[in-house]
Amino acid sequence: MPSKRPAPPRRRPASADAAVDRASGILEIDLGAIQKNWRFLQGKVGKSVQCAAVVKADGYGLGAVPVAKALATEGCKTFFVATLEEALALRETLKTAEIVVLNGLLPRTEGDILRARLIPVLNDLGQLDVWRKLVLPMKQRPPAILHLDTGLSRLGLSRGETQVLLGEPDRLAGVALRAIISHLVVAEDPKHAKNAEQRRLFLAARRKLPPAPASLAASSGIFLGSDFHFDMVRAGAALYGINPLTDQLNQMLQVFHLKGKIVQVHDVDRGETVGYGAEHRMDRGGRIATVAVGYADGWLRSSQGRAMAGIAGRQVPVVGRISMDLITLDVTSLDSALVEVGGFADLIDAKNTPDIVGTRAGTIGYEVLTALGRRYHRVYHGG
Ligand SMILES: Cc1ncc(COP(=O)(O)O)c(C=O)c1O
Repeated sequence: MPSKRPAPPRRRPASADAAVDRASGILEIDLGAIQKNWRFLQGKVGKSVQCAAVVKADGYGLGAVPVAKALATEGCKTFFVATLEEALALRETLKTAEIVVLNGLLPRTEGDILRARLIPVLNDLGQLDVWRKLVLPMKQRPPAILHLDTGLSRLGLSRGETQVLLGEPDRLAGVALRAIISHLVVAEDPKHAKNAEQRRLFLAARRKLPPAPASLAASSGIFLGSDFHFDMVRAGAALYGINPLTDQLNQMLQVFHLKGKIVQVHDVDRGETVGYGAEHRMDRGGRIATVAVGYADGWLRSSQGRAMAGIAGRQVPVVGRISMDLITLDVTSLDSALVEVGGFADLIDAKNTPDIVGTRAGTIGYEVLTALGRRYHRVYHGG
């Protein structure tokens, strides 16, 4: 039995915006901050180097179309996506920008690529041969990007294939190369020997290939210095506020704020448990605020026992197992006037950044962003 009669929870009065009242969570995205991050990176590489934007996985979960539109108005001209479908969706909005498909020239996609004026990344010799055969008869040959693998063993011409190509340069004859690219493996660690090794391999291959702009660095690579910038850098995570250098203070701006709605405030006695599995036991009587965000919304289960949230600027622990649609916060330390049903808990913001939230979940900020669910009411500012 409860030790004292629970006070009725406070209810937040209706807000001016019905969508906010309906929403179980609100994702506020600051397009102006994304633009500032892009300008910062463009400034870092200097005018002679192009800063392209990587907007794959729906702009790392924040919305490829609004993000790309905002960056295009800033002057960004080249956008990288992973899949053909992402590229086609973006082409509907960005009529003239360069849109590059990282996952390559896959069988039976050539028609879509040509019709939508997309730039395929040629990831192996087979793709190069198919593309060359396709474009050779054309008067105005559309551009493609050649990707050389220098250490990731994921996409791009393998070392063996690169050697074959260097020995048979005619395989590139007549192909309009928009760029030759490679991708770094441990750029977030400037001291790692692999960075210089990949750069050396990239330079050695590039010297023997027809002249074309080169691109090696993504977000972290930008911070390795001008030796790594070449003609174009491909910024993704840093645009979205993820720290490109894991052991240094983050120089990027936090670009979004995730708020979860408090749907119930619950009095719990000492010894009672919270959540599935009865894994969290109250060591004193207290209050639990239930927030309508769960793992179906991208709040990762693996953060159990470590996650924190803010209410009215105060940090409180997320306790118990994370369920599909709900998490539970121990708000015993807060004045009950601060915890209103219909009010919000700050789940990801400048205090609990994606990097911090990711570390607590045993993962990285990239996964926190791309896991952001579809149920949030999204509000875009600026741009
Ligand atoms: C080839 C390539 N370039 C650039 C990026 C962007 O990387 P980041 O988000 O670290 O800037 C990625 C992301 O995985 C990639 O695969």
